[in-house]
Amino acid sequence: MKGRLGFYHARPPTSRMNTEVLQIHAFGAITVLDEPADRYLALKVMMMPRDTNPYGTIFGGVLLSYIDQAGAIGARHEMARNTFPAQDIVTVAMKSVEFHQSVFVGDCVSFWTELRGIGKTSITMHITVEADRDGELMKLTEADVTYVSVKTDGQTRKPVPIRGKK
Ligand SMILES: CC(C)(COP(=O)(O)OP(=O)(O)OC[C@H]1O[C@@H](n2cnc3c(N)ncnc32)[C@H](O)[C@@H]1OP(=O)(O)O)[C@@H](O)C(=O)NCCC(=O)NCCS
Repeated sequence: MKGRLGFYHARPPTSRMNTEVLQIHAFGAITVLDEPADRYLALKVMMMPRDTNPYGTIFGGVLLSYIDQAGAIGARHEMARNTFPAQDIVTVAMKSVEFHQSVFVGDCVSFWTELRGIGKTSITMHITVEADRDGELMKLTEADVTYVSVKTDGQTRKPVPIRGKK
């Protein structure tokens, strides 16, 4: 695996920290593996027998549910990072969903998010689903999900500026 070598030292937490994968060697050195800087690990889930389809692999709908959840967590992370107010967000669209490979019971699946765009009331996230199989990272599924910042008043819900009043 590609990476750069360095030595472990304490440092204050930053929003980039969980995008760096550290490999700590017995002699105290570390390798910072090359993760793209703006990938955020929103969710990590172990796939269970209850999640399967009639063929014994993981049901696509279960993955979509986790993708929706991970995208919302990633969107909230981006909103906080940009000092936007903590407003409710709802899913308005899931697009470009691609199931590249089957997912199996026992797979430990990571849901990475990347910001794709911020509009007036919406935020779009790209979600990549990966599993570590025998030390090799496999891309399983990916999707783009758009969330809208909303204000709910009784039965009505209306889009509001995602940046707040600024
Ligand atoms: C989200 C909701 C309030 C938006 O209402 P709306 O009348 O469509 O609002 P608008 O047309 O003003 O669009 C709001 C934003 O969503 C975006 N949007 C709307 N439909 C979209 C679509 N199909 N794909 C991508 N973005 C879309 C618009 O571009 C706009 O973004 P912007 O302000 O950043 O430019 C409304 O559609 C809703 O309540 N949907 C149900 C949401 C829900 O319950 N989700 C949970 C899953 S069931």
